[in-house]
Amino acid sequence: MQILTTVEALRAWRKQAGTLAFVPTMGNLHAGHIQLCHTAVERMRAVGGKVIVSIFVNPIQFGPGEDLDSYPRTFEADCEKLQAAGVDAVFHPSVPELYPQGEQQYFVEPPAIQNLLCGEFRPGHFRGVATVVTKLFNLVQPDLAVFGKKDYQQLKVIEGMVRELNMPIEILGVDTQRAKDGLALSSRNGYLSDAERAEAIRLRRTLEQLADAIRQGRRDYPALSAEAQQLLDQHGWQTDYIAISRQHDLQPATADDRSLVILAASRLGKTRLIDNLELDLA
Ligand code: PAJ
Repeated sequence: MQILTTVEALRAWRKQAGTLAFVPTMGNLHAGHIQLCHTAVERMRAVGGKVIVSIFVNPIQFGPGEDLDSYPRTFEADCEKLQAAGVDAVFHPSVPELYPQGEQQYFVEPPAIQNLLCGEFRPGHFRGVATVVTKLFNLVQPDLAVFGKKDYQQLKVIEGMVRELNMPIEILGVDTQRAKDGLALSSRNGYLSDAERAEAIRLRRTLEQLADAIRQGRRDYPALSAEAQQLLDQHGWQTDYIAISRQHDLQPATADDRSLVILAASRLGKTRLIDNLELDLA
């Protein structure tokens, strides 16, 4: 497996790589990330292509007071996992390598979707994601890029960006990988104390209960999500949002919508957890 740390080395490697799948990450890899890699490796095996993964903790998608400095960095262990997964190359640039001019001045500005849900609580986050993913796409020039549905809003932002900016890249969304008890795998789960880890499963359960209520016919979505939020907060959570939205644009769902996604972000202590559940009504 090639380890590439400079733009120059990446560009040279890219020239001979042929058909290429790309998995962007911030490292501290867990089974969720590795599932994206397996998906990419499988797709590329079928066409004789290669797979590259990026590991880069992107400063411009973190807000003031967020966990940029404490974000876990575990490069050596990550490389072992990627090698075992059959990945061909890792792009691991330093911050000045990707932002040599210091502060980024040109941004990719997503439309209104960037201000919904997580965007309301993390201003500038999706602009930072869209900008770094564009930079990485321009450098890596992949044919296929793989993202997790765990970050559902991120996936929608990237899909829209690629469509509207005519980027010649297929975007593939992969189902959320979970611990045995249902908690979505996340690098941030490592911040949880034992007691918080035991409580954390309530987030998933709440989404499942909401889905059941909708399947049973409830359509008063704002009231339903307010009830769910109250229940979570009674158990010590501080909820940013619980929303019942339309899958395609993440706007609030109405009683007529059929393709729904229930999304939540909530904090346990200092750890912010997100999860979502797609729900297709007959
Ligand atoms: P990161 O949080 O490292 O996630 C990298 C990819 O792994 C994302 O596509 C994310 O959705 C996916 N992922 C995380 N947990 C997952 C799980 N439990 N199951 C399936 N997929 C999962 O997302 C980012 O990094 C950054 O914003 C990035 C796109 C790299 C831009 O900086």
